[in-house]
Amino acid sequence: MRALVTGVTGQDGSYLTEFLLSRGYEVHGIIRRASSFNTQRLDHVYEDPHKRGARLFLHYGDLCYGEQLTNIIYSSQPDEIYHLGAQSHVKVSFDIPEYTGDATGLGTTRILQAVWRSGIKTRFYQASSSEMFGSSSPPQNEKTPFQPRSPYGAAKVYAYWMAVNYREAYDLFACNGILFNHESPRRGETFVTRKITRAIAQILCGKQKKLYLGNLEAKRDWGYAPEYVQAMWLILQQEQPDDYVIGTGETHSVKEFAEQAFGYVGLDWREYVEVDSKYVRPTEVDALLADTAKARDQLSWEPKVTFPELVRIMVDADMEAVGLKPVGEGIRILQVRFSDWHQWQISVSDVVRSLEGAAMEKQHA
Ligand code: NAP
Ligand code: GDD
Repeated sequence: MRALVTGVTGQDGSYLTEFLLSRGYEVHGIIRRASSFNTQRLDHVYEDPHKRGARLFLHYGDLCYGEQLTNIIYSSQPDEIYHLGAQSHVKVSFDIPEYTGDATGLGTTRILQAVWRSGIKTRFYQASSSEMFGSSSPPQNEKTPFQPRSPYGAAKVYAYWMAVNYREAYDLFACNGILFNHESPRRGETFVTRKITRAIAQILCGKQKKLYLGNLEAKRDWGYAPEYVQAMWLILQQEQPDDYVIGTGETHSVKEFAEQAFGYVGLDWREYVEVDSKYVRPTEVDALLADTAKARDQLSWEPKVTFPELVRIMVDADMEAVGLKPVGEGIRILQVRFSDWHQWQISVSDVVRSLEGAAMEKQHA
């Protein structure tokens, strides 16, 4: 099987690539040209394409330019396309609404049109978002009306309907995964969870004194990203194309995340967190909570990593990244609940190696 992944350098793109490679896929990824390397999340799985048996290939392209996307799709002839590329930051979308509409909204149309025009038989996954629900009250499921509250949310609603439209108009196997927030040690540094866990590591090192955040009352349904890329794959393996809500079915406030994360390392969040209105959005999505009955029934997909576990995984990873010894519960949780195809961080850490070593010794004892 051959897959094409847009947004391959992002959090989800890197986990999905790892997952697909582990299942024997050949993976083609679209990357943007940058003046410095932007493939850090992929470096551990990257192989020289000249090497015999290499299965990961990267191509330059931009979602804002259709011609190159068409060329890549036509030349790689993928069986499955996972369209994850987007300007994905909600707050930033208020600063650059036009670009967000172009990359996040029209980017989807460019790919769908390229697929249809080239006549390639491929399955298409659209990375839709719970941000589309906006002010619709929780819990949200596949039938909940979209009432977006940001340029990003509006662009994703447009892209969602384009995927549905190409499915109905041209019989394309196009699916929407409506994913609620999912996080990991690879989460972008300006999303709130990672901002908090990174700040904790910096505070512990003595390099940062305060953490400035925006709205602490907003509630999100936060899950663990590697489990969500498995859901993407499952969505494309169904007999019929369809749309699915993916989340945990639990919601927590930003304040709760901060409280748990600081508490995990023995700190009181109130001593470090301050509110800066700069991070408050012109319009906010107050509460997201997934009703995942359809995904549970039809995909048999259920997340294993809970909210306190996610917090511990992320804090441990950020401590390790700055050279501190992690508390260790997060790493152990992954061993027990998710000792699967993905790596702890970007490279396997010494802590994991020693845990794996201990497990091996036990098996041989
Ligand atoms: P991310 O880490 O921000 O990654 C976004 C990816 O898109 C990066 O690879 C980025 O490339 C690429 N990209 C951005 N603009 C581009 C352009 N103009 N041309 C080509 N590539 C471009 O996002 P993520 O968290 O992995 O999310 C993946 C997808 O799921 C996104 O579409 C996001 O909107 C959606 N989503 C995410 C969540 C979540 O909680 N994570 C929930 C629902 C939906 P660079 O590395 O060069 O910037
Ligand atoms: N980023 C950020 N930074 N958010 C903050 C901060 C801060 O300093 N302080 C409070 N928040 C609040 C935001 O106002 C929001 O209510 C919540 O924390 C989560 O913000 P983000 O982590 O930026 O995520 P998001 O929910 O806006 O968007 C993410 O999830 C969507 C799915 O619902 C992104 O990954 C989107 O791409 C994704 O579609």
